[in-house]
Amino acid sequence: MKKLIAGNWKMNGSLAEAASLTEAIVHGIDQDHSLLDRCDFVVCPPFIHIETVFGTVRELSHVLSVGAQDCSKFEKGAYTGDISAGMLTDIGCTHVILGHSERRQYQDESDVLIAEKAQAAHGCDLTTIICVGETEQEREQGNAFDVVGAQLAQAVPEGSNAHNTVIAYEPVWAIGTGKTATAEDVKAMHQYIRDKLKEKLADFAHVRILYGGSVKPNNAQELLSVPNVDGALIGGASLKADDYLAIADSAPTV
Ligand code: PGA
Repeated sequence: MKKLIAGNWKMNGSLAEAASLTEAIVHGIDQDHSLLDRCDFVVCPPFIHIETVFGTVRELSHVLSVGAQDCSKFEKGAYTGDISAGMLTDIGCTHVILGHSERRQYQDESDVLIAEKAQAAHGCDLTTIICVGETEQEREQGNAFDVVGAQLAQAVPEGSNAHNTVIAYEPVWAIGTGKTATAEDVKAMHQYIRDKLKEKLADFAHVRILYGGSVKPNNAQELLSVPNVDGALIGGASLKADDYLAIADSAPTV
């Protein structure tokens, strides 16, 4: 399976920076076609930068997909401040990140809400990148597997399949901290996630499971070679084109 190299730009950058970052990424990929043999690429800018990113990608749209960082569970109507899944499809997005730990933490998002959003997104032909992961305390207490298992059980809705769903395992304590899980821990958790998906999805074997949390050029090769790691969800390092491309370049040959 080709690796999915997903950039989560979070709430960063100006319009001009979004354009120059996009330009550097698409040209980097276009100059080294071996990257496209090994990886698929998606970036998830802030909502109001999406159109600029598309404007910059233009004729190179085949090398870079664009996603959002959230969507509403509602289809349309009086939901001030929300952006619907249909609006994302309409503007050209193919992916949406859901249930990121920052939204769970700062917006109180629950697994039930995440499943509702995922259902709305699937209804609009978006591929959801559903995030799961334990806190440091949960890991220290030996509950990491139970926590992730419960998140998967509730946040992945009926109708999910390998085409419309990607899972991102992001230990909360590894996000933006420079700490990463060991390859052994990642291996064990990704195998566990695969086993859990087997209970739910007929095509579980083809669902991509990304690792996220301080993925950088210097640890990407090790992480991307772990069994059942089918790509990376990258925050900080995705804001630098060279780092984002170097991470992709550490992906093994398919
Ligand atoms: P990070 O963020 O790479 O900066 O740790 C990852 C994420 O939050 O998706």
